[in-house]
Amino acid sequence: MLIKRRDDIVPSEITPRPLFERRREFIKALGAGSIAGALGLGSGAAQAGARLAGIQRGPFGTDEKPTSFKDITTYNNFYEFGTDKYSPAEKAGRMKTQPWAVAVEGLVHKPRTFAIEDVLKLAPLEERIYRLRCVEGWSMVIPWVGFPLEKLLRQVEPLGSAKYVEFWTLYDPKSMPGVRLPVLDWPYVEGLRLDEALHPLTLLAVGLYGEELPNQNGAPLRLVVPWKYGFKGAKSIVRIRLTDKQPETAWMKASPGEYGFYSNVNPEVDHPRWSQATERRIGEFFKRKTLMFNGYGDQVARLYTGMDLRKYF
Ligand code: MTE
Repeated sequence: MLIKRRDDIVPSEITPRPLFERRREFIKALGAGSIAGALGLGSGAAQAGARLAGIQRGPFGTDEKPTSFKDITTYNNFYEFGTDKYSPAEKAGRMKTQPWAVAVEGLVHKPRTFAIEDVLKLAPLEERIYRLRCVEGWSMVIPWVGFPLEKLLRQVEPLGSAKYVEFWTLYDPKSMPGVRLPVLDWPYVEGLRLDEALHPLTLLAVGLYGEELPNQNGAPLRLVVPWKYGFKGAKSIVRIRLTDKQPETAWMKASPGEYGFYSNVNPEVDHPRWSQATERRIGEFFKRKTLMFNGYGDQVARLYTGMDLRKYF
C-alpha cells in the first residue's frame, strides 16, 4: 500500500526508492529510528539513480498502488534495444544520455535547442502517479516526475498555423542494437494534435520514483500521455517539431490498419487481432476492465467532441 502522507509531500520524498516497496520490513527491522539515516541513504544506496530535488506533488494523481520499481524498470518496450520486454533493461545502459539536447522547431516564433539542464529549469518538477495502459493488454501505475509539456512548448511560441506536434527520438545504431532490424521505420516518431500536447495532463517526464529516468524508461526525457496507449509515450526525445500536417508515426507506417494517429485508450474499439476490453495490471492476477480514455475521460473527453472514435482510432 502507498504510505499515508500529507498532501504537500510526495511519496518518493518520504521514502527513497529502495525502501519505498519494502518499507514495512525496514520499519520492523529498525524500529522507529531514522530509516534513511540508519542506512546512510543519499551516500549510495545500491544502484539508485540520481535523485531529483524539489519535487512537488502534481495534480491528477491516482491513489492506486504504484507498480514496483523493479517491474517498471525491467518490463519495458523500447524496440531500439530489442523487441522483448527484458532487453531494454539489459542493453539500454549503452545509450549515452550526457550531453543531451532537444531541438524544438518548426512552426514556432522562437525555435531553440535546449540542453537537458535547461529543460530541467523550465518548471518545478512534479510527481504524478499515472496509469499506463499498453496496447498489448497490460497496464502499470507509474509515479512519474516531470512537468507539463506545455511549459516547454510555450517557450518557443507556436505559430497560429501549428496544429500538430511531432516527437523524434534518438537513433544511434552504435548503442541501439535493435535498430539494425527493420521492425519499425527508425527513428521512432510519435505525434499529437497541438491541443492534446498542450493539455495539462500531458507530461514531459524526466524521472520516476523520485529519481532520474533509467535509460530503459526513456532517459533523459520522454513523453507521457496517460489517456492514450503507451506507445504514444516516445522515449529519449531529441527533436520536437510543430507542423500543420498530421504526423506519420512509426507505428502508423508499420501497420496502418492496427495503429491510428489518436490511439486513445478505448475498450470499445478492439485491436484487429485482440480485444481491448480488459487489461492485466502487472503484479495482479485477475484482469480488470479497461476504462474509456484510461480513466481520464473527465479531463480529456471534450477534446474529441463530435468525433467518431471508431474512425479516428
Ligand atoms: N519509445 C521509443 N523510442 N521506442 C519504443 O520502442 N515503445 C513504446 C513507448 N515509447 C517505445 C517508445 C511503447 S510500445 C510503450 S508501451 C511504452 O514506451 C513503454 O514504456 P515503459 O517501458 O517505460 O513502460
